[in-house]
Amino acid sequence: MRETVLNNGVTIPDIGFGTYKSTTNEGYRVIGDAIKAGYRHLDTAALYENEEEVGLAVKKSGISRSEFFITSKLQRNCLGYDSAKKELEESLKKLQTDYLDLYLIHWPRTDFGRDDYDDWKELDRESWRAMEEMVKEGKIRAIGLSNFLPHHIDSLLESAAIAPAVNQLELHPGYLQKEAVEYSRKKGMAVEAWSPIGRGRMMDEPHLKSMAEKYGVSVPVLCLSFCLQSGFIIIPKSTHFERMQENLKVRDDMISEEDMALIREMPECGWSGEHPDRETVQV
Ligand SMILES: NC(=O)c1ccc[n+]([C@@H]2O[C@H](COP(=O)([O-])OP(=O)(O)OC[C@H]3O[C@@H](n4cnc5c(N)ncnc54)[C@H](OP(=O)(O)O)[C@@H]3O)[C@@H](O)[C@H]2O)c1
Repeated sequence: MRETVLNNGVTIPDIGFGTYKSTTNEGYRVIGDAIKAGYRHLDTAALYENEEEVGLAVKKSGISRSEFFITSKLQRNCLGYDSAKKELEESLKKLQTDYLDLYLIHWPRTDFGRDDYDDWKELDRESWRAMEEMVKEGKIRAIGLSNFLPHHIDSLLESAAIAPAVNQLELHPGYLQKEAVEYSRKKGMAVEAWSPIGRGRMMDEPHLKSMAEKYGVSVPVLCLSFCLQSGFIIIPKSTHFERMQENLKVRDDMISEEDMALIREMPECGWSGEHPDRETVQV
């Protein structure tokens, strides 16, 4: 499988499995199926309340831990030096592992509606300092960000000793966050696409439907191909075994340059409504 080499030399599989909402017994079944389908890169988070299920599925697979690439994330309401250390230990315990391949700050701030309030900057920097120490202790192989826009990145970089390896952003046809992607890359980060299928919100978008028909694929497969072909690491989620397999086989050379440009120029659609500086909105 195609891999990306991160800025610290660690390699990450370009197609991972998203585990949001995979909880309890059904979540364990879904994650186990994903491993059977061939996924070795698993994306979880403390917020998803399924690190135990991920850890169990990995253990029960009988496959060596070193063959997996496991990402987890520090919740935004747990930012800070002590809290980051405590949260990582909790994640390791739940995942039944002694290291994470990638640990991300999930969202940069919680203090919505207070534009004059700067505490998030210090909280991010202190979280990062704790994460850097945990890298040195061998508890994390790479550290990165999620949902960081250029102003959040700049603030963190003022005191960072280790450059972030990844920025995980909502990215799919209809929502491409060009500025954040370009800035992340300029600062040496690999870009990961969360909700690369837009959680199904663009299924009926006429341009995507007709383009998918032209290539003889479904809209979700077109979205995934577009993301891979744009150089994003993708972490699609599915509860269906056949779709898990289908998503792992997505090509990164299917769409013509002309059609790539047409998708890039599409009007905004399918946004989740989640913005790092504001409360989630209904769209
Ligand atoms: N960093 C962050 O803040 C953040 C936020 C959100 C998500 N994430 C991560 O990103 C991952 C993926 O995002 P997501 O779970 O929101 O949604 P997604 O992967 O964009 O879309 C999942 C939806 O697409 C459907 N689907 C998947 N493959 C398909 C296929 N081949 N054909 C037809 N339908 C298909 C699934 O349905 P079925 O299950 O019925 O197949 C499901 O409804 C998450 O699981 C999580 O790990 C990160």
